Amino acid sequence: MKIAIIGPGALGTLLAASLTIKSNPKTPLDLWLLDYKPERAKFLNEQGLILEKGDQRLNCKINATADPQEIGPADIIILCVKYPDVADGLQQAAKLAHSDSLLVTLQNGIGHLELLKPGRVSPAIVLGVTALGANLVSPGHVRHAGSGLTRIGFLKTAGFAKSLLLAKVCNLLNDCGMETAIVDNILDYVWTKLVINVGINALTAIHRCPNGELLEYADTLNTLTAAVKEGEAVARAKGIQVVGDPLAMTLDVCRKTTRNLSSMLQDINNKRPTEIDSINGEIVAAGRKLGIPVPVNEALVRKVKEIEISY
Ligand code: PAF
Repeated sequence: MKIAIIGPGALGTLLAASLTIKSNPKTPLDLWLLDYKPERAKFLNEQGLILEKGDQRLNCKINATADPQEIGPADIIILCVKYPDVADGLQQAAKLAHSDSLLVTLQNGIGHLELLKPGRVSPAIVLGVTALGANLVSPGHVRHAGSGLTRIGFLKTAGFAKSLLLAKVCNLLNDCGMETAIVDNILDYVWTKLVINVGINALTAIHRCPNGELLEYADTLNTLTAAVKEGEAVARAKGIQVVGDPLAMTLDVCRKTTRNLSSMLQDINNKRPTEIDSINGEIVAAGRKLGIPVPVNEALVRKVKEIEISY
């Protein structure tokens, strides 16, 4: 079975390293990491990957390339790029797909869903959301920043062979230490995670603080609460069954990832485009369409965009 991971960011590197380190030496995985930067792919190929987990520091070799042809047809393609790079990532995925491939997408937000509409993408699509924390220390060097369940599920119902392949993906992820479950209602989970990101990501990026600090000040806590409530109202108006109590879950994530720098703060720190359009921006767009007031999310979008412009 050939696996191609697209995107050597924090999550892609964590996945590639975890799968490689835990793969059975007798039947090693045919695993590839696809980067869009040839120089970085060469570097990863030569240096391998470093995974820091607790006190452990583990190294492994990796097949990295910027050329999808070098990989050839892959059975499982895992798209780990952030929202601004999803369109390009999907073009690369199309070069790797064969008729029975599965494309597993792991993004924050919901902006990518538009790009995955039927007719636009050919392999069977599996959406994923993860509560795992990962921080990229430097290219190829990732820190596991907190455990959390990963949920995966088909966007549209799939046949027996594809369901079997999805079960294999699930087993592989569990075997490499990433707790994973298959669910039937993945869109509900994607929205649930969206609402959590709505409360945390933009605010941590604006205040340049770790997730836990949002709970320490009345001002940030009130904004977080209002942003999540707006997100929840929009989700419910769209008929999404948000799973659990979104505000309680958001506060819980802040506590559990207290020292973690959110992915949006990492983007801002590295002067990269953020996922604001795919997170708070989607709440604003849907709120306006549905006639639901979303002033707090509008302000968060405006502030993050101001920071992006100032790079
Ligand atoms: O985007 C992130 O960083 C994560 O989804 C989360 C849950 C906010 C934890 O940092």
